[in-house]
Amino acid sequence: MSIKPIGIFDSGIGGTSIFKEIKALLPYEHTIYLADSKNAPYGPKDKAQILELCKKNTELLLNKGCKLIVVACNTATTNAIKTLREAYDVPFIGIEPAIKPASLQSKTKSVGILATKGTLSSELFYKTTDLFSNGINVIEQTGDGIVPLIETGKTNSEEMKTLLGVYLKPMIASDIDHIVLGCTHYPYLIPLLKDMLPKHVKIIDSGLAVAKQTKNILEQNNLLNTEVLDATNLFYTNGNVAILDAILEHNFNVSYLNF
Ligand code: SIN
Repeated sequence: MSIKPIGIFDSGIGGTSIFKEIKALLPYEHTIYLADSKNAPYGPKDKAQILELCKKNTELLLNKGCKLIVVACNTATTNAIKTLREAYDVPFIGIEPAIKPASLQSKTKSVGILATKGTLSSELFYKTTDLFSNGINVIEQTGDGIVPLIETGKTNSEEMKTLLGVYLKPMIASDIDHIVLGCTHYPYLIPLLKDMLPKHVKIIDSGLAVAKQTKNILEQNNLLNTEVLDATNLFYTNGNVAILDAILEHNFNVSYLNF
């Protein structure tokens, strides 16, 4: 058993969608969240840059005593998790687009995936898609511009609706019945997506699966916090404190940190 915190990092505020699932499943765990908003988005960056940022975030969380790290960013996971696991001696949980359940459940045999360029061009994404998309028409779409809008508090803006309209059009034309959200910022688009997609299209995100995997790995490593304490949840951002605070519905302790 360990009362040390779980560390969570993302290229910005999107990974809070994962934090919320972890908190719901593991309410007694202490957590520390890093929003690297200053360097968002990671999606258009090259692998070496993404790796360098992930190492910086990991070391900061390890210096704060974290027992396990959740890489709450698809782009960071697909490009860096293998190296992080080799370089540091704590368990890492990553996020992969849920292509498998979408492909298995699709009746129209047509599935959309919305993700960053960094995720869609990664080797890990290529391998997963190749493995699970046999006989399925996978419509890949880069979500250029979405993360900067969410990071600046414009999730429900007209600009966002226009962008999504362009990105969803080829998917709707291909009769998708599932859309996979391949970026942890995108669950915040679910209300808009529900309005813009045909009613039968199922929206798949990875949050709950990641929370369950976090619990499993803590159990397997005897790291669960079994002491019933009031959990402390700390949030640090090198960007805009007010925007992170708002997405957390003003429920947590958010501070600025220059990292
Ligand atoms: C980004 O920083 O470009 C998006 C983060 C993600 O892929 O989850």
